[in-house]
Amino acid sequence: MKETVFSGVKPTSVPHIGNYIGALQQWVKLQQDYNCYYCIVDDHAITVPQNPKQLREQTHAIAATYLAVGIDPKKSVLFLQSDVAQHTELAWLLMTITKMGELSRMTQFKDKSQKTGSQSAGVGLYAYPVLMAADILLYDATKVPVGEDQMQHIELTRLLARRFNERFGQTFDVPQPMIQKVGARIMSLKDPKKKMSKSDESKSGTLFLTDSDDDIRKKIMRAVTDSTAGISYDPENKPAVSNLIGIYHHMSGIEIADIEKEFSDKGYGDFKSSLADVVIHHLTPIREKILYYLNNKQELNEILDQGFHKAYPVAEKKIRFVKDQMGLGR
Ligand code: AMP
Ligand code: TRP
Repeated sequence: MKETVFSGVKPTSVPHIGNYIGALQQWVKLQQDYNCYYCIVDDHAITVPQNPKQLREQTHAIAATYLAVGIDPKKSVLFLQSDVAQHTELAWLLMTITKMGELSRMTQFKDKSQKTGSQSAGVGLYAYPVLMAADILLYDATKVPVGEDQMQHIELTRLLARRFNERFGQTFDVPQPMIQKVGARIMSLKDPKKKMSKSDESKSGTLFLTDSDDDIRKKIMRAVTDSTAGISYDPENKPAVSNLIGIYHHMSGIEIADIEKEFSDKGYGDFKSSLADVVIHHLTPIREKILYYLNNKQELNEILDQGFHKAYPVAEKKIRFVKDQMGLGR
């Protein structure tokens, strides 16, 4: 029996190469050895104010991206969280065993509620990690590939699974995080101290998977470099160039030492120009596939429908068992 993997991305914007290198590229590989559930977590996206039209567009964009990067709906279950109501149902059940103090400690909640203050923050934002625990536990996933920033949420998931099992008898597997070492953090092209992110005000620090060849080349040629010359991998002392070398490595498959060798006697200009070639070469077919699916929404929706039909019976069976364990029902 293969172990089960669960992961998801929020449809809050078009994905960027940080999402791709840090998450999606790894997901594609896992399909060989695991039974994978890859979800578009739209119920999580609405924990911050959303524009309904944009949310639907971004949901399609994430689904198209999953397919474009190589997630194969024949091998993996690719589906939309809000299609399977058992996610929110299980979140409610788990909330009854979650302590307020445990949720108040979550750094993502603290960060995101900072603007309004915790008294004005939404209850949905507060309960976000419980919904994430529900996603994972509903499918008995044992492995959860995520970026470092999600570790605390996985810890809470493990705690809730154990607490539930202690109170109501063996019900949930306790999942483990899977964190990739190199590429766990791709930094902004404009500021190597900041994580590349969807919400970067200046879009010039973020390479989106749908950027045109021209945009990619411009952004890379204008990327900041370090004060010392030379192309070498040294994240401590040369964070900007090391970030670019990391991107080069993940886009070309060439080892870091070989990249250093190739550019040892060349300047930043040559290196960036070659990096732009490599990134464009890698992303062009992905972008074309994303655009294909966005122009063929019916095909895209049919794939999501197939995913729903695979996820739903598993979720339904599990929720019945959970409710039975808790004494709910007649
Ligand atoms: P999010 O965009 O926050 O929904 O994240 C989706 C996935 O991409 C998560 O597993 C994140 O940890 C990962 N991720 C987001 N930004 C980066 C980044 N700059 N570098 C590496 N991984 C990232
Ligand atoms: N919270 C995750 C993020 O922001 C997304 C997510 C929701 C997720 N449910 C999940 C990731 C379940 C892994 C497993 O990246």
